[in-house]
Amino acid sequence: MEQLLQKILQDFRNTSSLHSGLNYDQIKSRLMPFTLDEPGGIDAVVKAIDAYLDTSVNTGHPGFLRAFWGPSEPASIVASLLTDVRNTTMHSFAVAPSATIIETEMIKAISDLAGFPGHGIFTTGGSNSNEMGFLCAREDALPGSSVNGLSGQNLRAFSSVEAHYSVDAAANMIGIGTDALIRIPCIDGKMDPQALNEAIIQEKQNGNLPFIILSTAGTTVRGSFDDLNAISEIAQKHGIWHHVDAAWGGAALFSNKHRNLLNGIEKADSFAFDAHKMIGSSMVCSAFLVHDESILSRTMSHTNRGDYLFDDPNKELSLGRISPQCGRRADALKLWFSWLEQGKKGLGERVNSCIDASKHLAHLVEEHPQLILVSFSFSNVCIRFTPHSNETIEQGNQRVRKVRNYLEDHAKCMVLDSILDNQLVIRFTASHPNVDKAATEEFLSNLIEANEKISL
Ligand SMILES: Cc1ncc(COP(=O)(O)O)c(C=O)c1O
Repeated sequence: MEQLLQKILQDFRNTSSLHSGLNYDQIKSRLMPFTLDEPGGIDAVVKAIDAYLDTSVNTGHPGFLRAFWGPSEPASIVASLLTDVRNTTMHSFAVAPSATIIETEMIKAISDLAGFPGHGIFTTGGSNSNEMGFLCAREDALPGSSVNGLSGQNLRAFSSVEAHYSVDAAANMIGIGTDALIRIPCIDGKMDPQALNEAIIQEKQNGNLPFIILSTAGTTVRGSFDDLNAISEIAQKHGIWHHVDAAWGGAALFSNKHRNLLNGIEKADSFAFDAHKMIGSSMVCSAFLVHDESILSRTMSHTNRGDYLFDDPNKELSLGRISPQCGRRADALKLWFSWLEQGKKGLGERVNSCIDASKHLAHLVEEHPQLILVSFSFSNVCIRFTPHSNETIEQGNQRVRKVRNYLEDHAKCMVLDSILDNQLVIRFTASHPNVDKAATEEFLSNLIEANEKISL
């Protein structure tokens, strides 16, 4: 164990190269062999560590801008290892007493930041937390549906057109199908509350049962925040569950400077929060928070069956009773350790520095003649190139794609492109501290260079 950890620590925080530049077959042959008949011993594992480090993307590189995360916080990595050492699984208090208490306290701590009472569960990620929102909303609209099913009702869900695709996944998985998800248009990236209200009225008139509004706090492409106060008001008026997908923007809960982005979250029925994004916990560390203490046990009523797992004197404390999972990692420790080490203050500063870096880039883009700032919100900066004369939108899209590929192929940086208002844009986000102001300047000069190179 010591030898293997030493091996990993040698490379810890090495940010010299972003990726190997190798293709699938080359990576595969570098990783081989995958199985051995005879024991390979520790040497085989050491070689495998080298091969993995050489061929995996280095998310700590300042050019890793493609996703909402980067390298995880050291304290969080150690927490993850610690849970592996004990091999804790969360289903019952009997086998996970300390981890149960830690998870319960972390749920309360996140809830406190949001003005929630302190109930919820850690999940497998933001997608799963959104699905949990759907499940709870279904049980709330149709009490007993966890046992009786949908009873012939046509349920309808509502989210903005810019909401994450996991909302479709949730509609799919709870059995109502993606057509039952009504996508509401946005104004400047925010769900239009009036259009939402009208759509709900229309669906009711059609004889359908609106059961959830999912608003987004920090959209995936634009980083915008829906008006949570206005949407809560509509939800309350129609008696519909309001779930907030704060998987990305929930990090603002830690920042005194940016907390106002989440104004109104306290009025929602539930929300999703990912600590493995801007907060820097290692994958995965995601929580689903609710107002109503009883909704999770009602929604997970299948766990009432007196299963052997919960048949212990402390079964009321067993978190397996309110989770769809049986075996479950003790993910809450990852947030706990980072929180202990850095405090709310340090985690908030982490958020502030990401947003500051993005703001710096947004200003530079605005002033650059070859670039157009399509949008800037939270830590997301969306960029197009100033069109050449007679350049069509489609040609502009191709330019964005070519530039993105050029940057990635030349290992300058990894950045996403995405459709926004029917146009392909470069989507930049700063989600880890290595993406500082200097890194944004480097990104900008790489972007300009790539634009000139591919235009040749
Ligand atoms: C707004 C939003 N919600 C949910 C998710 C899904 O989160 P996860 O990857 O943890 O499932 C994402 C992922 O980027 C996201 O941007």
